[in-house]
Amino acid sequence: MTSTQFVSRLERNHAAKTPEQRDAILSDPGFGNHFTDHMFLAEWTPDTGWSDARVVPYGPLSIDPATAVLHYGQEIFEGLKAYVHEDGSIWLFRPDANAARMQRSARRLALPELPVDWFLGSIRELVSADRDWVPAGEEKSLYLRPFMFASEVFLGVRPSQHVTYSVIASPAGAYFAGGVRAVSIWLSSEYSRAGAGGTGAAKCGGNYAASLLPQQEATANGCAQVAFLDSTEHKWVEELGGMNLYFVRSDGTIVTPELSGSILEGITRDSIMTIARDLGHTVIERRVSIDEWREGTADGSITEVFACGTAAVVTPIGSLEWDGGEAVSGDGEAGKVTTDIRSALVDIQYGRVTDRHGWMSKVV
Ligand code: PLP
Ligand code: COI
Repeated sequence: MTSTQFVSRLERNHAAKTPEQRDAILSDPGFGNHFTDHMFLAEWTPDTGWSDARVVPYGPLSIDPATAVLHYGQEIFEGLKAYVHEDGSIWLFRPDANAARMQRSARRLALPELPVDWFLGSIRELVSADRDWVPAGEEKSLYLRPFMFASEVFLGVRPSQHVTYSVIASPAGAYFAGGVRAVSIWLSSEYSRAGAGGTGAAKCGGNYAASLLPQQEATANGCAQVAFLDSTEHKWVEELGGMNLYFVRSDGTIVTPELSGSILEGITRDSIMTIARDLGHTVIERRVSIDEWREGTADGSITEVFACGTAAVVTPIGSLEWDGGEAVSGDGEAGKVTTDIRSALVDIQYGRVTDRHGWMSKVV
């Protein structure tokens, strides 16, 4: 079934927040706490394909207790941000890359692929309806969360024959409560996030569910995120629960773990390869062992470590901690290479420099 052309209708929220209520939220949004006045919805069945695209007042979905997603977790999501530029225009960063990744995730989770024009259209319609919700200012943006789930009311274990796609939007400040500063990371010795042949390369809810117990362990140990190793050898560094990793070496090269099939292919990770090359660095994708991380920070051959992702942007990693030890990167604070890469990335996103790579896409 080929889906119809993207046409969306708008039902305005007559109980929208007042400008005063909205401004109070936008002045200190945090991350993931507040939602805009509208949301996007569309439906899929094998017979109709994608249909009923609509922007409606934000509010609860009514879900039958037998809805498949509640039982078997057939769900995927995306994350991207809208930024206000100085002239008041609103822009997205590489939304086509999110659209493509959502299609890859859909294939792995046996969900229907959302056509790229539907993905981009859904984001544009929602951001246009809620344009006043994009916060201006340093580190602020409107975080967009497209997601798709098995909405058929059926307990048999097979791909859902009714699927719902939605986009919600949440004004955002810095992801980590302390703002932009170096964080400590917990090395999970017992758990893996994903395994060979599993769903690690897809952005599905189950991967995050699997990361919560080790994340609890990290929090109990005063750390902000968990670093996961490969599930077979427990030797190769994969990524954090919600971010990719980069290592800056004293020889000037920058290394990121190569895609293993169980690592999520981050759009920030990919963009940083280009940005770091623009800044004159050699960027290498290869396997990085946990011993290289520990020994490299100890002998100075690794000078900086950072995490990257849409929510985290570029976050310096001050130390890796585990039961009975720690590996401190540099002096434990943000290093120069990390800071320069972060600045180059956010300058593009906030429209402060020329978008040489054609990454920005204007909404309104
Ligand atoms: N890895 C995981 C597990 C993630 O959840 C994310 C966040 O989306 C990333 C990496 C970074 O991906 P991106 O840069 O596309 O946001
Ligand atoms: C993102 O960076 O968009 C993520 O999805 C990470 C986390 C908030 C789940």
